[in-house]
Amino acid sequence: MSTRSPARRPAHGRTPVTRETLAGKKRAGDKIVMVTAYDYPGALAAEEAGVDVVLVGDSAAMTVLGYPDTNEVTVDEMLMLTAAVRRGLHGPLLVGDLPFGSYEASDEIAVETARRFVDEAGCDAVKLERGGEASVARVRAIVAAGIPVMGHVGLTPQSAVELGGFKAQGRTAESARRVADEALALQEAGCFSIVFEAIPDAVARALMPSMKAVVIGIGAGPSTDGQVLVMHDLLGMSSGGKARFVKRYANLHSATVEGLARYAAEVRDGTYPGPEHCYGIPDDELAAFRAALPSVD
Ligand code: KIV
Repeated sequence: MSTRSPARRPAHGRTPVTRETLAGKKRAGDKIVMVTAYDYPGALAAEEAGVDVVLVGDSAAMTVLGYPDTNEVTVDEMLMLTAAVRRGLHGPLLVGDLPFGSYEASDEIAVETARRFVDEAGCDAVKLERGGEASVARVRAIVAAGIPVMGHVGLTPQSAVELGGFKAQGRTAESARRVADEALALQEAGCFSIVFEAIPDAVARALMPSMKAVVIGIGAGPSTDGQVLVMHDLLGMSSGGKARFVKRYANLHSATVEGLARYAAEVRDGTYPGPEHCYGIPDDELAAFRAALPSVD
C-alpha cells in the first residue's frame, strides 16, 4: 500500500458531485454527463468542461496502454492512472473500473481490490462488469464494505468473447430479457448507478421506468439518465475505426500529427528555434565566460 494519500481535494468553485447529486439530477430529469479520463491533463480538462462523473475505465488498456483488449490491464496499472486523474479532479465524482481478474474470484478479493481503489487512488466509487450471480454477489459485498458500486450491463468488454465479440446486446427478446434481469439484479444488490452499453434504444426505454439506480448509457439511446463516452473516441485521439454510437467532437489525432510534423520540419530546416526562443546573457558576462573557457586542443 502506498504511503501517499491522494484523498479527495476540496472543490474549486464547484460543489463536489455526490451520489445524491446524481440521484437529484435523475429525479429532476437533468441529464448527467460522464466521460473517461486516464491522466492528469485529461482530469483537468474534464473538470474545466464541467462534467459530472469521470470514469477511469479499463478502456485505458487500449486507449493509453496499447494492449489489444481491456482484459490485459492490471490493478497496479489502473491504480497509477486513477491516482493521476484524482490529482486533477475536484468537482466530478471519480469512479475507478475494477479490471478483469481483480474481483471475480471471491467477495474477499473483490472488497480488497475495491478498497485499494478508494485508499490508494482516491476513488469515490468503483465499477464492475456483468450482472450474473458472481457479479451480483461481489456488488453486495463491496457495498456492504461501504464502497459505492456502479454496475455495467449489455456489451461488457471484459466478457466480449462469451458475448460473441464487440456486438450490441439485447437485440432478441431473450437477450433483452437477460440485460433486464442483470440490470434489475444489480440494482437490487445496491448499485447506485448502472451503465447500459450497446443495447437498442427501445430496450433501454422499456427498462427505464423500473430503474431506481442512475442509468448512464453508451450506445443505448437518449432515454437513459445520462451518457458516457470514452474521451479518446469523442476527441478523435486515435486513428482507428469507431463504434456506431461514438460522435466525434474534435480530431486531436490529426491535429497532433500535424503539429509534430511541422515541428519536425522546422527543426530540420533550422526555422526552430528562432531568436524569440533563445535566452540572452549580458555582453560583459559572456566575455568573462569566454575568457575563462579552457582551451581545447
Ligand atoms: O472502460 C470504459 O471506458 C467503460 C465505459 C465505456 C463505460 O467501461
